[in-house]
Amino acid sequence: MRLAVNIDHFATVREARGGIEPDPVHAAVIAELAGASGIVCHLREDRRHVNDRDVRVLRDTITTKLDLEMAATPKIITIAMDIVPELVTIVPEKREELTTEGGLAVAGNEAHYSELTQRFHDRGIEVSLFIEPEASQIEAAAACGVDIIELHTGTYANARSRAAKDIQLERLRVASALAAQAGLVVTAGHGLDLRNIGPLAEIHAIEEVSIGHALVARAMFIGLEQAVREFIVAIA
Ligand code: PXP
Repeated sequence: MRLAVNIDHFATVREARGGIEPDPVHAAVIAELAGASGIVCHLREDRRHVNDRDVRVLRDTITTKLDLEMAATPKIITIAMDIVPELVTIVPEKREELTTEGGLAVAGNEAHYSELTQRFHDRGIEVSLFIEPEASQIEAAAACGVDIIELHTGTYANARSRAAKDIQLERLRVASALAAQAGLVVTAGHGLDLRNIGPLAEIHAIEEVSIGHALVARAMFIGLEQAVREFIVAIA
């Protein structure tokens, strides 16, 4: 399993003072040198953390893979087409949310996501859809011709009891097997940390995890390079 590092919250800290430190681009370089398989950033409509300059400089700096997380709005699509990241991950976005709350409703909107996927493919950009671990969403994503699905692990991460965690792990196991059978690359993310990543890492159909908050939190105490190495060991 590979580790993609979401660097949004380095920009969150920068925005707390409105200055230039810490630079999320520096974070991306350190994360890559420590072994991250890719760098993820979410260019939000309200630019609350990562901004247009960051995405441009990240594009020129990153040597692994830039995964631009984004809502499928016309303005952000135009920016993505201009920047040409290796990958876009389409997420639902609400201005009032603290973080991405749920998966995309792909089922029932196949025509929209098929057309969008084709537009990105024409530009040489791979497409991932962030979805709940549900058969209907996986089948719809496969029908749209996307390359990757990212399974939303938030319900698993928030489960408190052992039994509740096991139910969510089983959902993720079944969903990832179904997606892999449909020829999709399977990744996962949201709310993952050093306490809950172990059992998820045993689901071999999941090829990569995308982790931000817990990694940045850990980096505050032990440094980013060491934190990335720690997470890589935890998913090995
Ligand atoms: N994957 C997606 C699609 C997300 O929206 C987020 C949050 O930005 C993450 C992964 C990372 O979640 P976390 O910050 O909880 O690790």
